[in-house]
Amino acid sequence: MNNQPYKKPNTSWENSAQKYHQIVGEEGHYYHKAVVIPKSLDLLKLSKDASVLDLGCGQGVFSRVIPKGAYYYGVDISKSLINTAKQLKASTDMQFNVQDITKEFTLPKTDFSHCLIILALQNVEEINVVMANAARHLESGGKFLIVLNHPAYRIPRQSSWGIDEQSKLQYRKVNKYMSPMKIPIDMAPGAKDRKTLTWSFHFPLSTYSDCLAKSGFYMERIEEWVSDKQSAGKHAKMENRARDEFPMFMAILAAKR
Ligand SMILES: C[S@@+](CC[C@H](N)C(=O)[O-])C[C@H]1O[C@@H](n2cnc3c(N)ncnc32)[C@H](O)[C@@H]1O
Repeated sequence: MNNQPYKKPNTSWENSAQKYHQIVGEEGHYYHKAVVIPKSLDLLKLSKDASVLDLGCGQGVFSRVIPKGAYYYGVDISKSLINTAKQLKASTDMQFNVQDITKEFTLPKTDFSHCLIILALQNVEEINVVMANAARHLESGGKFLIVLNHPAYRIPRQSSWGIDEQSKLQYRKVNKYMSPMKIPIDMAPGAKDRKTLTWSFHFPLSTYSDCLAKSGFYMERIEEWVSDKQSAGKHAKMENRARDEFPMFMAILAAKR
């Protein structure tokens, strides 16, 4: 039996901040630009009167796409990413702050119209605390958008592509789904010096749904977003079919009761 006390993993992307900023840049990485940002904006329908709280905002990529005039407040646990966000900030009244979203926190403003967490909820274990923080800072009826790597098809180390030679089909293999998982990700595989780890936490969709309900949200919509990439070459047909069948991302739009 393991009697060691549970050691909470350090989920900050501080050690990968420079590399992450190189990949994301000012406008976002490939999938931010092609899928995540345009589809999130479609779901959120932000106006210039909106006020947006961005949890796990990284270097603030979302702050650079919200409508002019809308209020924006971004929080992240990584000091370096918050500093980069501040350097790139599009307007003086945007706010960025270092904050651990897995601990209860209170900001002076508690009536945001929108709260979002883009590709960051999968990096924390205490999703119930994050959702409670979102609820505490939204006005009644306020929208909460969660964008995840698809929890059914993109489980690090537990999902992968396979090819059925007989039917010439590319399929998705999933080894485990219902069990919660805590998965270390090596951000610099092959690097000779110290490993740069981040963490990914897997939960089945029903856990997200339960936590949202317990935090005072109801789900308005689920969207599943596929990659827009196209293959060329002899496996193109099979690969393009698989890409259209297995979504990369899941978006959950919830509203505060
Ligand atoms: C994949 S990045 C996504 C950042 C940003 N939303 C984007 O789309 O570029 C995940 C972010 O979650 C942040 N994060 C991880 N654990 C956190 C915590 N406990 N509190 C606040 N932010 C956290 C990391 O520092 C990192 O910036």
